[in-house]
Amino acid sequence: RPVPALGEDESYSLEIDAEGGRLQAPTSLGVLRGLETFGPLLRKEGSGLIVPGVRIDDQPRFPWRGLLLDGARHFMPIEVVKRTLDGMAAVKLNVLHWHLTEDQGWRIEILKYPRLTSVGSCRRETMVEKKFDPYVGDSTRYCGFYTQAEIRDVVAYARSRYVTVVPEIEMPGHSKAALAAYPELACTPGPFEVRTTWGVDEDIFCPSEETFAFLEGVLTEVIGLFPGTYIHIGGDEAPRTRWRASPLAQEVIRREGLRDEHELQSWFIRRIERFLLANGRRLIGWDEILEGGLAPEATVMSWRGTSGGIEAARQGHDVIMTPTSHLYFDYYQGEERFEPLANGGLLPLDRVYAFEPVPDSLTPEQAQHILGAQGNVWTEYLKTPAAVEYMAYPRTLALAEVAWSPREARSWQSFIARLPFALRALDKAGVAYRVPHVEGLEADRLTLTDRVTIRLQTLMPDAEIRYTTDGSDPTRASTPYRRPFALPVNAAGVRVTARAFTKDGRVSAPRAATFTRTTYREAEPEAPGRATGLRYEYYEDTVRRAAAIDRGQPVRTGVVDAIARRGDERPEQYALRLSGWLRVPGDALYEFALSSDDGSTLQIGDRIVVDNDGFHGVEERTGMIALRAGLHAITVRFFQGGGGHDLSLRYRVGAGAWAPVPAEWLVRRP
Ligand code: ACM
Repeated sequence: RPVPALGEDESYSLEIDAEGGRLQAPTSLGVLRGLETFGPLLRKEGSGLIVPGVRIDDQPRFPWRGLLLDGARHFMPIEVVKRTLDGMAAVKLNVLHWHLTEDQGWRIEILKYPRLTSVGSCRRETMVEKKFDPYVGDSTRYCGFYTQAEIRDVVAYARSRYVTVVPEIEMPGHSKAALAAYPELACTPGPFEVRTTWGVDEDIFCPSEETFAFLEGVLTEVIGLFPGTYIHIGGDEAPRTRWRASPLAQEVIRREGLRDEHELQSWFIRRIERFLLANGRRLIGWDEILEGGLAPEATVMSWRGTSGGIEAARQGHDVIMTPTSHLYFDYYQGEERFEPLANGGLLPLDRVYAFEPVPDSLTPEQAQHILGAQGNVWTEYLKTPAAVEYMAYPRTLALAEVAWSPREARSWQSFIARLPFALRALDKAGVAYRVPHVEGLEADRLTLTDRVTIRLQTLMPDAEIRYTTDGSDPTRASTPYRRPFALPVNAAGVRVTARAFTKDGRVSAPRAATFTRTTYREAEPEAPGRATGLRYEYYEDTVRRAAAIDRGQPVRTGVVDAIARRGDERPEQYALRLSGWLRVPGDALYEFALSSDDGSTLQIGDRIVVDNDGFHGVEERTGMIALRAGLHAITVRFFQGGGGHDLSLRYRVGAGAWAPVPAEWLVRRP
């Protein structure tokens, strides 16, 4: 079996009728894809097997259908890697991105540099939970690496399942374990210790000739082990602090005529790309490799949203979409307090399914550069194979459809109707997936009536929903849900909590929402001479909570005509306060969705209607309020502490479509 080339024809047609079946494909890979589709169609009946009559003409939408497994933060033994490959192959995913080197451990044996594993594969201990400050360690030495024989074994195993393994060797950042082994590769003398906490480290490879000789030595062995076209070189989260202070790095900047440390990183990556190209391989890096200019043939993996991918595609570069907002499988799948410890952020199954890899803003020609999509299973908080499977499933099933199916063929309703069958297959394979929570309690709701209709649904095969209305946690003895029902509500709020219970004793996390009878907020008197837009106040304070913005002094004020950043703010560590009135067109129960990175709040009158506060990546939260037609005082607070920016507000009425808040609703005192 040859190494499957990305983009190889995987199409097939499958026809089954009373006369028999016919599978046709132009390639052996297409035949395999057809057989993979045929298998799950078989059903036992009596002593025989039956198949439905079908006519399927199928091919993947994207050549890159990936999953990242982080074997570095916590070491994942090869049996786990092989199980991951089995699961991927079952849903036609075809790229395993294997994250092999990190600040917290170097996990790939390199014969030329034995200290990488003798020193770099062990850390003194690991931080307990999220006890960064004050730091608490577990006093347990933690080690692990893959021998070259094991890596060859995994690559062969993957090949037999038509999965390409793309190794990631991180540079110039996330390299603390390598620096612990070879401190002479850093910009300062060291000594260094393999990191015991998660995060971003200021110690990175110094751009010296020794570093390049070392990296080329490492990559030469990596190329020998991994026959695929692509090598991932990381490139993310490399602070410029050490390079700024390093005479050697500054000398390289001068010698090469570079403007700054961003161009130095770009120069670093270009030099590595030349080496890879000379060896017949192509370079992939995280979207930070855009900073200071992309290497000529680099492929970009867009993780900080999709904007890096959009920019790279516009520059004619290939792109893989893996934004934190939709494809980071280390984010929570449900309410944090009911879930095992995870990185943060919320990424429920429906959000993964809703991901569209090709942004609307690309031309058809630019869209050709989107190679596909990838889910990332980072293992900071995943110590065991079962923990990995819990985070990967069922989200990997949603990813597989996003990456394979035509855009117009995708339907959440269809997906959840088929999901119980897919979960049964996972049960057979012994996969420790997360039992999906009950659907129908997505958010707290307000109502202007004295009853609401409660509709619940479980995606679990053979499961029963039981619920409570007194705030208690449902048990197997609680009221069973049989059909939609009318729930009497009051001004104090009625909390519905539900869980799904399976026949074989499994139970979902609880899901709860509060239903509250509300009344209209009266409009404020119209005053003559109101102008459109909101007052804009810009603060250069470092805040961690939206309310703290009010204690500062704005460095600039102005006007905005949308609930958005102006775009001339500094790159990080600032805050905004937008204020004025919202002039809504009719009496209605309005629902608002506030999206931001980092925190934000929406206040109407004296009520916080949407609380999206705190340090986080792009996250959208919703809230409701009943408003009479007319003016209502509004304040939006937003702060940005580092990393990406984002701020937007949408609204809807009832089950209507979400729309941006129109500019003509925003008014202020002139
Ligand atoms: C990343 O999550 N730092 C690529």
